[in-house]
Amino acid sequence: MQIADVQDEIDHELITKAQIASKIHEVAARVSKDYQGRDLLLVAVLKGAVNTISAFSQALSIPVQMDFMSLSSYGSGTESSGTIAIRQDLSCDVRGRHILIVEDIVDSGRTLAWLVEELKRRGAASVEIFALLEKPSRREVDVDVRYRGYEIPDEFVVGFGLDYDERFRNLDSIAVLKPEVYQGE
Ligand code: PRP
Repeated sequence: MQIADVQDEIDHELITKAQIASKIHEVAARVSKDYQGRDLLLVAVLKGAVNTISAFSQALSIPVQMDFMSLSSYGSGTESSGTIAIRQDLSCDVRGRHILIVEDIVDSGRTLAWLVEELKRRGAASVEIFALLEKPSRREVDVDVRYRGYEIPDEFVVGFGLDYDERFRNLDSIAVLKPEVYQGE
């Protein structure tokens, strides 16, 4: 789906399809070099990271394994509280594995901070992070993002995995939603 298909609800495009592809390929080249000869496991948190891990894994030049987790953070509305529950766990044992977490966005940082600790607790050999987007102004918890994509302002963004009320995840670029779409709920 493209911006033109939902133009009534979109304020403006923030990151184009070409920019997303370019950044993902740039990071994939670095990761392919850094993990050359090592056994790498990509871990994505459902559902937002699905588009990113799909494009990213295909852009790598090394073989990897992929696994998925579904987490829920209990809080009020869109704010995450830091209390994380596992809705669906990984299907593999991470002991001794080199892991790269692939995320669509780091907001408060609470999800990733929890996940990094959890994977280390389970015995992962190393845990690094690739985040396509970061909202630095919203960061509450310090998270060491090794591979960074784009920094974005604190606006309501959708597309390339990011949703509003489960919509817009299949938009092929990243865009700012018109306030009237989410206001007045
Ligand atoms: C989003 C995103 C991250 C998390 C980041 O997921 O995919 O996992 O929030 O927020 P944080 O840095 O404040 O913890 P969300 O909970 O919206 O679920 P989704 O991926 O299914 O859309």
